[in-house]
Amino acid sequence: MSDITIYVQEASGEKTPVEAPTDMGLSLMEILKASGYPIAATCGGMALCGTCHVEVLSNTELPEPSDDEAYMLDSLPVVTDTSRLSCQVKVDPDLDGLTVKLVPVE
Ligand code: FES
Repeated sequence: MSDITIYVQEASGEKTPVEAPTDMGLSLMEILKASGYPIAATCGGMALCGTCHVEVLSNTELPEPSDDEAYMLDSLPVVTDTSRLSCQVKVDPDLDGLTVKLVPVE
């Protein structure tokens, strides 16, 4: 099995583990959505809607955001130094232990 565990920090501060397969080419957004998190993903993962915004809480090394992702993040009302669009983050073995918090769109 090539599953990794990603943690989602809930509003309560509790961390929920989410198992994610690394061999299916899924994005973090797809994993979170499939786990029941309320992500609208209206653009379908094209870095255009910003509804899949997450804040990365662990110091997991992630690939740099693409220009499209950086541009979209810049236009969001609330953004942190570790904000990412989860649709642009591919799930791979390096992400084991990644901890994120969903940033709801106002
Ligand atoms: S799903 Fe629209 S920006 Fe990620």
